[in-house]
Amino acid sequence: MKEISEQERRNLEEQLIAQISPGKIPRHIAIIMDGNGRWAKSHGLSRVRGHQAGAKLIKKLVRFADTLGVKHITLYAFSVENWARPSFEVSFLMKLIKRYIVKERMELHAESVRFRIIGRLSELAPEIIEEARISTELMANNSGLTLNLCINYGGRTEIVDAVKKIVAEGLTVEKITESAIAQRLYAADLPDPDLIIRTSGEMRLSNFLIWQSAYSELYVTDVLWPDFDEVEFLKAILSYQGRERRFGKTGEQMAEGN
Ligand code: FPP
Repeated sequence: MKEISEQERRNLEEQLIAQISPGKIPRHIAIIMDGNGRWAKSHGLSRVRGHQAGAKLIKKLVRFADTLGVKHITLYAFSVENWARPSFEVSFLMKLIKRYIVKERMELHAESVRFRIIGRLSELAPEIIEEARISTELMANNSGLTLNLCINYGGRTEIVDAVKKIVAEGLTVEKITESAIAQRLYAADLPDPDLIIRTSGEMRLSNFLIWQSAYSELYVTDVLWPDFDEVEFLKAILSYQGRERRFGKTGEQMAEGN
């Protein structure tokens, strides 16, 4: 693939920004950050260097999303299935995530971001839970974009945990509704994602937000996560803006506002 210069990239970014409809920005964008291992391999580096490169670009994308008017960004950082990776990679990822939470705390706060982690938190190391708690509390009253990091997250596990809560609360059969389940998900107040982006070409959800993605628009790019920049982000939003969301209705009904 032909490399483009920084100036060319900026020009392209400006051209794409000019095409964006400000009134149709997805409120919630969720991202499957895939391809770190392949990126590292293609650069002759070890897999974990790919994760490091992937972590580095989160800040600029969060900032960029905020300037565009996105309200929530949810990142799939570590799945319940990822524990099965080589132990060196697992412990590297955990350290990287903890370091990220601590290192970016004050800057995210200064930018008025809100922060939380989503997943089966009871199985995480106490120091990660504690650092996340400090960040969440510090940023709780901020008014900017919400950054959600999914750690030890699995969509099926999340539904199992919601069902456990329902049983523990003794809900009767009539009370078991879609909203009863939705209210017991890990981040019940978070709106469903409008757009789910997956990098590195794989056409699957991999157990990510499987309840919440029922009507999400999906965007898959071949670009590997560490190469995903503002231009790629804009391309995803433009693709989203070209979709007709119908939520099971007809196009005519949607046009009439029914
Ligand atoms: C998938 O790429 C990526 C992951 C399992 C981890 C994602 C983590 C990060 C981007 C960095 C850590 C996050 C934070 C918030 C600090 P892969 O390793 O499966 O890539 P491959 O398919 O090319 O092997």
